[in-house]
Amino acid sequence: MDAKETAGRAAAAYALPGMVLGLGTGSTVHWTLVALGERVARGERVRGVATSVDTETKARAMGIELLSLDAVESLDLAIDGADEIDAEFRMIKGGGGALLREKVVASLARQVVIVVGANKVVTRLGTTFALPVEVVPFARPMVARRLSLLGCTPRVRVHKDGAPYRTDNGNAILDCSFAQGIDQPAELERAIDTIPGVVESGLFVGLAHVRVVGYDDGRCDVVRL
Ligand code: 5RP
Repeated sequence: MDAKETAGRAAAAYALPGMVLGLGTGSTVHWTLVALGERVARGERVRGVATSVDTETKARAMGIELLSLDAVESLDLAIDGADEIDAEFRMIKGGGGALLREKVVASLARQVVIVVGANKVVTRLGTTFALPVEVVPFARPMVARRLSLLGCTPRVRVHKDGAPYRTDNGNAILDCSFAQGIDQPAELERAIDTIPGVVESGLFVGLAHVRVVGYDDGRCDVVRL
């Protein structure tokens, strides 16, 4: 088991029978879905709201029941990955482009468990990963200029063939590099949110409760904030 599988599988233990889950996105939470799928195969009913089309497809294939947000007012538990997480559980998310739905789902969950490999734990956000910001395509050039004024270098996310990347919501992503990392994540999140044309930023502050860190030797560190 590598670090991702260790963390992803360990977090599935937080999903108690009967809970309504938020199902995150990415290659670490993939292992949470696998573990939940194994429970379905043993006869348990597992249900949740998916944060991306990718997760929806995987969950459906594993027999996990999918719910829409019309059907739920809150979630018992969300399990998701992160691109960076610090000691206060502040995070950069959105490497997989699912930040908007991930933030909606995390904000509805009574408990949020984050699963990461040890390489994702940082002392300062923005030092190993650019901050994704989801923007309305029409406003992208103007948003990029406004983001630069906040001290970063925004780059338009594109596919390998150069085609413009689009999120599940039809929006563009600007990946914003901060040369010295991010000073004040909460303030920056608020400043980005005020730019017209921004749909959501990948800064997640005050949303996570438990951090599950996996290691390649199969060890796992669980910390509750
Ligand atoms: C997707 C995300 C993912 O949770 C994040 O990118 C981590 O992914 P992985 O577990 O594959 O490293 O925020 O938008």
